[in-house]
Formats: sequence, structure tokens, C-alpha cells
Amino acid sequence: MAMRPRATITALVLGLLLPLGASAQEQVLNIYSARHYKTDEALYDGFTKQTGIKINRIEASEDALIERIKNEGARSPADVLITVDAGRLWRVEQQGLFQPVTSPTLEQRIPAHFREPSGLWYGISMRARVIAYDKSRVQPSEIATYEQLADPKFKGRICVRSSNHIYNLSLLAAMIEHVGEQQATAWAEAVKNNLARAPKGGDTDQIRGVAAGECDVANANHYYYARLMRSDKAEDKAVVEKVGVVFPNQATTGTHVNISGVGVLKHAPNRDAAIKFLEYLTSEDAQRYFADGNNEWPVVQGVKVDNPALTSFGEIKYDSLNVSALGRNQPTAQKIYDRVGWK
Ligand SMILES: [Fe+2]
Repeated sequence: MAMRPRATITALVLGLLLPLGASAQEQVLNIYSARHYKTDEALYDGFTKQTGIKINRIEASEDALIERIKNEGARSPADVLITVDAGRLWRVEQQGLFQPVTSPTLEQRIPAHFREPSGLWYGISMRARVIAYDKSRVQPSEIATYEQLADPKFKGRICVRSSNHIYNLSLLAAMIEHVGEQQATAWAEAVKNNLARAPKGGDTDQIRGVAAGECDVANANHYYYARLMRSDKAEDKAVVEKVGVVFPNQATTGTHVNISGVGVLKHAPNRDAAIKFLEYLTSEDAQRYFADGNNEWPVVQGVKVDNPALTSFGEIKYDSLNVSALGRNQPTAQKIYDRVGWK
């Protein structure tokens, strides 16, 4: 190849500008993350120690990150996107922002139902959608399934968050997959008719709503309850004293579960490093950090977390539906919620 003097000069100048200790060959990985927990630092340090690959990280809301990636286009420095809920990963997938990657390690370590079948994204930790209830007013057997929330005896007694939040969209999307659109619509309509108040707030607000007597049952992701269980605050202890949780559908399809996950971006400049990072996330220590930092479960079989809140839940049967169905059925789920007036 012919020499191009100007490019060579530019390279030399850039070389002089590199910070001390860095080299032109230094490998980096650029992570855009919509997930941020205190244990993340140890997680990223572990990767750099193991591989020598330096991590640059940008944390923001998922919507802001998607906008940024789209605006950056083919010149985006982003290699991987970390976010929560298969329904959100699906949205990124729908915008064509991921590229498929496959690796024997990922396929062997991550169960098939926790990854997108063509390798566009992978689940790294697991979360369950539980039913919280007032221990003095509700028996666990009355809410042993999500379907039981449709019972007219719960009229005026249920707290939920908004239907356009991804957690409720994914829950209904799973139900659509199991029982079909018609039955899922009947369920959503009946639950909507049982609401104690208009949907509002986040998952913790629903649990607090039960504790405050605003409602008798509510749905929430398990880790919000686990956080309250592990809190030192008297007000949180009082909530856990009053409110219990049930992992529904143990005798049928298993409790609805979702994931926190990660995908390699279409224009990733450091694709090899990105795949190494995904593989690293399936290692025993990384699984523990990634999941436990948010009181979630590892997706890799046999990785144990020493978390008293999680241990107290015992062995739970989980829905083994492929989580990619949650995205596929998301538009139908939103249509149903809109139709029945669950705001
Ligand atoms: Fe959450």
C-alpha cells in the first residue's frame, strides 16, 4: 500500500497526544448501560483484570441511549447495550440496532429460553413478577395464580402500575402466548375492573400501597420486595411485616420471569471485545455480581448467590417460555390494555 504522508503525520500527532501508559494498540470496550448498581464497578474491573481490555461506560435511561445510538449511526462508538426486560431488548432489536453474535460459551452457559434465538441479545440475570398481598386480609391460596386476580372478590382491592410500563406489557405478553389473545383480554378487563385506584407509581409504590391499606394485592418484580426485606429502615421493615409475596402459577406454567440482558450493537467497533465481555458475563463471579447487585438470580445453572432475601423464597418453578415471545406479543398486549381501559 502506498504511503499517505498526511495520514502518517496525523497518526504521529495522535500518538503524542495519547495519555501516558496508553498505546495505540490498547483494547477498549464501550458499554452503554441503562442498568447501574453499586456492584457494577467490581464487575467491570474483573473484566479488565482478566482481559486487559479497558472499559468506557455511559449510563443513561434506555430511551436516551437508543436516541444516542441512532444519532451516532454508523460512527457510534457503542459496542454493547445493557438494559432490563426482554421487551425492551426487543424494541432495540426492532430498530435494527443489534447484530447477531454466537459463541459456544454463550450457547452452553445461557439457557435457550433466556436468549434471542438468532443471538441478537442474551439474558444475563433473571427476575420474577410476583403478587404482593396484605397478610392479614388475603390468603396466599387466593392468589396462587395471576388468573385469580380476575376474581370479582378482588373488586376495588388491586394496585397496579401503568399498562404501558414494560413489566406489565411483558406479563400480558406471556399470558397471550400461553392462553391466547381472547382469554388474555378477558383477564386484563377483569383485573382492570378490580383496581383500587387508577394505575400509578413504580413497583415499590404498589407494595407500599398494600402496606398502607390502599389495596390488598398488587403486582411487582420480586427484587423490589427483596430490597425492602434487606433494608435497615424501620418503615421498610414495617412494610415487609405487613406484606407477603407469592410466586404465582407454581402448579401450572410457573411464575412469569424476565431478564436483564445485553446485545452487541450493529456498528460495534470492538466486536471481538464485545463478545469476550458477553462471555465474561456468564462466568461464575460475573453472574453473581450482575444478578446479586439487584437481588436477581443468575441465569447460568449452578451459580449460587449468598443472598438471604433470595434464599428465603426457596425453590421456585419458573415459566420456561422463551423470553423473545414477550417482545413479539408486546404490540398485542398494548392493544389489549388500551381496549379494556387499563391506563
Ligand atoms: Fe425494575
